[in-house]
Amino acid sequence: MAGWQARREPLVFAALLPTLIALSTAGDTLAPGYRLEDGSSLVSSDGSFKLGFFTSGKSNLRYLGISYNQISDQTVVWVANRNSPLPDRTGVLSFSSNGSLSLSDSKGVVYWSTPSTTPAWPVAKLLDDANFVVVGAGEGGYAWQSFDDPTDTLLPGMKLRVDRRTGFTRNFTSWKSDDDPGTGDYTLFMDSNGDPQIFLLQGTKLVWRSGPWVGEGFSGIPEMWNNDMFNFSFVPGTEEAYYLFNSRNKSVQSRLVVQPKGLIERRVWIQSRGNWTVFWSWPSDECDSFGHCGNFSVCDDNESPACSCLQGFEPKSPDNWNLRDAKDGCRRRTAVDCQNGTDGFVLVANTNLPDTSAAVVNENMGTKECWEACLRNCSCTAYATAEMIDGGRSRCILWSTALTDLRVYAEGGQNLFVRLARADLALSSSKRKRRRIVTAVSAAAAVLVGILLAGLVARFIRQRRKSSNTVKSNAWNEEMGRSRELDLPLFELAPIAVATNQFSNDNLLGEGGFGPVYKGRLEGKQEVAVKRLAKSSSQGVEQFMNEVRLIAKLQHRNLVRLLGCCVDGEERMLLYEYMPNGSLDSFIFNKNKGALLDWATRWRIIMGVARGLLYLHQDSRLRIIHRDLKAGNVLLDNSMNPKISDFGLAHIFPGDEIEGRTRRVVGTYGYMSPEYAMDGTFSVKSDVFSFGVLVLEIISGRKNRGILHSDPNLNLLAYAWRLWEEGKGLELVDSSLGYPISMAEVLKGIEIALLCVQDRPEDRPEMAAVVLMLGGDRTPPPHPKQPEFVVARGRSEDSSSSKGPTCTVNDVTISAVHGR
Ligand SMILES: *[C@@H]1O[C@H](CO)[C@@H](O)[C@H](O)[C@H]1NC(C)=O
Ligand SMILES: *[C@@H]1O[C@H](CO)[C@@H](O)[C@H](O)[C@H]1NC(C)=O
Ligand SMILES: *[C@@H]1O[C@H](CO)[C@@H](O)[C@H](O)[C@H]1NC(C)=O
Ligand SMILES: *[C@@H]1O[C@H](CO)[C@@H](O)[C@H](O)[C@H]1NC(C)=O
Ligand SMILES: *[C@@H]1O[C@H](CO)[C@@H](O)[C@H](O)[C@H]1NC(C)=O
Ligand SMILES: *[C@@H]1O[C@H](CO)[C@@H](O)[C@H](O)[C@H]1NC(C)=O
Ligand SMILES: *[C@@H]1O[C@H](CO)[C@@H](O)[C@H](O)[C@H]1NC(C)=O
Ligand SMILES: *[C@@H]1O[C@H](CO)[C@@H](O)[C@H](O)[C@H]1NC(C)=O
Repeated sequence: MAGWQARREPLVFAALLPTLIALSTAGDTLAPGYRLEDGSSLVSSDGSFKLGFFTSGKSNLRYLGISYNQISDQTVVWVANRNSPLPDRTGVLSFSSNGSLSLSDSKGVVYWSTPSTTPAWPVAKLLDDANFVVVGAGEGGYAWQSFDDPTDTLLPGMKLRVDRRTGFTRNFTSWKSDDDPGTGDYTLFMDSNGDPQIFLLQGTKLVWRSGPWVGEGFSGIPEMWNNDMFNFSFVPGTEEAYYLFNSRNKSVQSRLVVQPKGLIERRVWIQSRGNWTVFWSWPSDECDSFGHCGNFSVCDDNESPACSCLQGFEPKSPDNWNLRDAKDGCRRRTAVDCQNGTDGFVLVANTNLPDTSAAVVNENMGTKECWEACLRNCSCTAYATAEMIDGGRSRCILWSTALTDLRVYAEGGQNLFVRLARADLALSSSKRKRRRIVTAVSAAAAVLVGILLAGLVARFIRQRRKSSNTVKSNAWNEEMGRSRELDLPLFELAPIAVATNQFSNDNLLGEGGFGPVYKGRLEGKQEVAVKRLAKSSSQGVEQFMNEVRLIAKLQHRNLVRLLGCCVDGEERMLLYEYMPNGSLDSFIFNKNKGALLDWATRWRIIMGVARGLLYLHQDSRLRIIHRDLKAGNVLLDNSMNPKISDFGLAHIFPGDEIEGRTRRVVGTYGYMSPEYAMDGTFSVKSDVFSFGVLVLEIISGRKNRGILHSDPNLNLLAYAWRLWEEGKGLELVDSSLGYPISMAEVLKGIEIALLCVQDRPEDRPEMAAVVLMLGGDRTPPPHPKQPEFVVARGRSEDSSSSKGPTCTVNDVTISAVHGR
């Protein structure tokens, strides 16, 4: 084969050169001996792209380029001779005798050419993806390809790549202006240093970067996350690293173009409008501009000024900083002390990770190992882990230089852990923090006013009821009558059966400790939740009605409202308001839905549950111990306000209670206090214990009994305790949480939760103290004691209706875990 070509080469070219044949038909191939003249074009085999001559703007200069063939306006995606246009229409593209493809005019002046090829019987072909290639020996079987010499446009399937062995990058450079294809100021390329990122340069100045790839997109391009329009891939290979995209809908045309003014635009062809629409564009705000805030600072577009120093850092040049020139950045307040091992990390959530061009990446390293790796190395300033979607591998990124170009987003983004000296860990000193506290205080004031108003209204209603509720009688009819006076309707069975579709499984909302709950629609209008109580209760109708009547009087914004009840033979049913957002557990234990609950909402939920519980314990006329407080029993209304459900049911089922002791342990493993699980003794303090567990779950997004990386015996309480003791409490925070996160609140929440889950009931605070501590601004609470008992779950998830005291208690002491 080679011999045949070698023999043939001189002969053929000598014979063909004087009489080149002009291409007449629009094929996709140009072979030696043929010429592509101005006026004709090559068209890819599927007809989507064409290669031909064009003018741009008002000038008569001619360029050779590739454009869409089936899109009406002339959209050029590649230009051969961008800096040396032809003055007239005599341009010809053909192979010259040395095997290079060249563009020349009638006088033989060469305006553009490819390198010469070695097996000198080359063929040039325009492929369906707009790659114009010279077939031959070379990468991918091409001696040359237009994709390796791109203009300003990245097309679907085209790699934005860097060859990490040779350092060769595909540079996408803007046009000079909208009408001039000449080489402009802005260049987009993949930088392979550290963790690869895409850079946009203006001349030699870095103006924008994509951030590193973090699983489903670049950390600095929020538009890419959770996107279903395009399919992106990124391969950080050791030989080559590349990024490419495809439209998921093949009939949607899309391209990425570097505009002359320095914007990177993703444009999409809208067939019905007949034009290209800018779908996304970057840089999109001041925080996108590289290094806008200097080193060790955070840029937040929603704040003014946008720049603030990281916690534990202060402006390097306060004068400039105050004049809103943040370029000098920030410096540490307290030097880190790595020898003594007292350093900790502060979480900065929802970030575009800092510049990774000097970062070190460890593939297949989990969160814990990554943290250790950073803590061990004195020069490590921060770490982050990024999950890769394919196979769930975790990459650990370590920084040892200054943190540059860090920004935060309102939601989404990566968690970054910044190393701080212990002295700086608990500080909340930046302006940003102060502002947040102010807003928190005014919000709290609003809530207070709301509570006062609600209290007045409730009192008014109560008084009205009292005045009409004077007749005392034990007769069933009278009882019914009184329930009407109470605004507590008594329902008959038939309409409820209709409303719940004969208690069909499709209407089943859940199965609680006291029976199944169905969704129903009364007379096709109001939606209700119907709790069909298990038939085990030995109570008589009268006694039951008494209880319900009392419970109906419990009204608090953080309790689910009882709308009515139904007694029919053996059947006992309670009708509650329907909560469209379902229960808290469906949010916090679900990574996707968890993101819907930002920190402010979670904190509000914690406060709400605490107030609801306080009301049950203390403020209501009945002293009610819930006995089954858990995430599944906290329902969320339209505005994500928490409402405790199933309260008072312990009262309705008093069967075998004897002075605060019960043989029938209701409750859910994982939320049960040690004394309740073991002896069946319960008190308000057992609810406090459950509340503590719930708070840890809300903060961490993990179930108590959660299986943690390494040690299955380590439950959430032990894990939280350990992190807390090691000064790493912030690491407990759910990674799907949205920004902003108030560090002070998180730490306060964890500390209070740990107080609540102490082993001895007498060590736990009462709910009144909890509410005060939650609301107060830095009352240092007593130091929580280490939890010793871990109630292991010996059965299925929510085995709250267990019939006997058969729970297993695992005497796992933390000290065994501690020494690891
Ligand atoms: C190949 O020939 C063309 C036209 O004759 C010339 O412009 C080009 O420089 C040559 N290339 C090489 C590598 O010799
Ligand atoms: C691409 O741009 C980078 C940065 O300006 C430059 O160092 C490199 O030489 C360019 N590569 C090519 C192939 O033009
Ligand atoms: C998305 O990309 C992956 C990998 O590149 C590929 O396997 C898949 O078919 C693509 N899906 C679509 C809809 O283009
Ligand atoms: C793809 O896009 C075309 C045109 O925009 C549209 O008509 C078609 O329904 C889309 N197909 C799918 C599977 O979304
Ligand atoms: C595309 O067309 C729409 C409506 O026809 C028009 O509003 C819009 O400005 C056009 N966009 C461009 C970039 O020409
Ligand atoms: C370690 O801690 C001690 C006591 O706090 C302090 O005096 C010493 O300077 C620390 N070591 C380093 C290297 O900072
Ligand atoms: C600490 O980090 C620096 C910079 O990443 C690295 O060069 C050095 O090898 C690391 N040291 C150890 C002991 O891992
Ligand atoms: C910011 O950090 C980088 C990388 O460590 C360093 O090169 C640069 O000089 C720093 N800039 C300032 C203003 O300190």
